[in-house]
Amino acid sequence: MSERETIRGVFEQDHDRLDELFKSFQQLKRSDFTKAEQAFKEFKAGLQRHIVWEEDLLFPLWEKKTGMSDSGPTPAMRNEHRQIGQQLEAIHRKVETQNVDSDQEEQGLLNLLGSHNRKEERALYPAIDQVASAEEREGVFLNLTNIPEERYKLCCGEH
Ligand SMILES: [Fe+2]
Ligand SMILES: [Fe+2]
Repeated sequence: MSERETIRGVFEQDHDRLDELFKSFQQLKRSDFTKAEQAFKEFKAGLQRHIVWEEDLLFPLWEKKTGMSDSGPTPAMRNEHRQIGQQLEAIHRKVETQNVDSDQEEQGLLNLLGSHNRKEERALYPAIDQVASAEEREGVFLNLTNIPEERYKLCCGEH
């Protein structure tokens, strides 16, 4: 299986893309706020999209294949998504008021995302690659592009 054909390859690449956007926001916020805000908006919409991808498409596939939905790793991952969302919102509130003093909230988000993404990359994604057929994985990839934008593009006055 090539990277592009595995759940792990595709979702890990999206984690990396989001990490880069967040790093840009952090690096730019004290020198070029407009650019930093742009990076943050892209990051926020992208992270929200990633979570919808997992909760609406990927986790249901795992739950269907294994029969585990109330147990197993996905309830914990969904729960962590809510915590990530809250931390993201705390930074969003500061960005909205052009308050660059969000270092603590940023570190909180990085800590949450770091351990969450590691668990997905090392355990859950490879496990899904094991239980899903090539057709089922392909079905997930095709459906990623069908998620309507209004499910995740909520940011800074774009509600
Ligand atoms: Fe996740
Ligand atoms: Fe993820």
